[in-house]
Amino acid sequence: MKKKIIVANWKMNPDSPEKAREIFAAAVRAARKLKHVSLVVCPPALYAGLFKKPSERNIFLGLQDVFWEKGGAHTGEVGAGMARAFGISYAIIGHSERRRLGETDEVVSKKVLAALQAGLRPIVCIGEAERDADGAYFNFLKNQIRGSLASVRPQQLKEVIIAYEPLWAIGKSFKDAMKPPAVHETAIFIRKVLADMFTVPAAAAVPVLYGGSVDAENAGPIVSEGRVDGLLVGRQSLDSENFPKLLSILNGL
Ligand code: PGA
Repeated sequence: MKKKIIVANWKMNPDSPEKAREIFAAAVRAARKLKHVSLVVCPPALYAGLFKKPSERNIFLGLQDVFWEKGGAHTGEVGAGMARAFGISYAIIGHSERRRLGETDEVVSKKVLAALQAGLRPIVCIGEAERDADGAYFNFLKNQIRGSLASVRPQQLKEVIIAYEPLWAIGKSFKDAMKPPAVHETAIFIRKVLADMFTVPAAAAVPVLYGGSVDAENAGPIVSEGRVDGLLVGRQSLDSENFPKLLSILNGL
């Protein structure tokens, strides 16, 4: 059975390295005994440098962004190669909170390529801001996927993960998350776009995750009925009580 991928996106939290250590330790404790779950913890870059990749083969470290250049005069940026040297193996790229600050598909595509070249698996975020009755959001998603993956060569696709995060469902209550049938329909659409860009078997092998107001209440149905390969979890990944519950629910699916 393919392991479910759970990405813990801490965003700009917590406010101290002590708390970061506690949250990380709780997540590792919860995930280490699970056979059917892979956990990717993505703390702020500074904290990621505090942690060692745990020896368990189902627990990994990721960043929330990387820059596309290898080095040089780029104040404030962190390179994919630097991340790799710290034992980091994944990078979230094109999160909507970064796109909101001006990150375009073209920028996302450059970062995806830099991540792949450095040996990081890019977790490429896509998602529409709203759903209209005519379904124009499908076109939006298609263009966003095509633009964000424009740099990916066919042989690199197997390293890419797609995180579908409808913006309207992020940062709310679990009741406001997307319902499983709509998740399923969108995941099929995403694979169709990938199949048109690459091949049907290559597209079928790409993990498609859902993100947006996931917690222990809705994680199970979203993955089992929504037929996605895992979840990208924001706020609830900082909750040392609920997050272990969520992991064990997914492990049991
Ligand atoms: P949320 O965030 O789980 O807090 O909704 C998800 C995300 O934006 O990564």
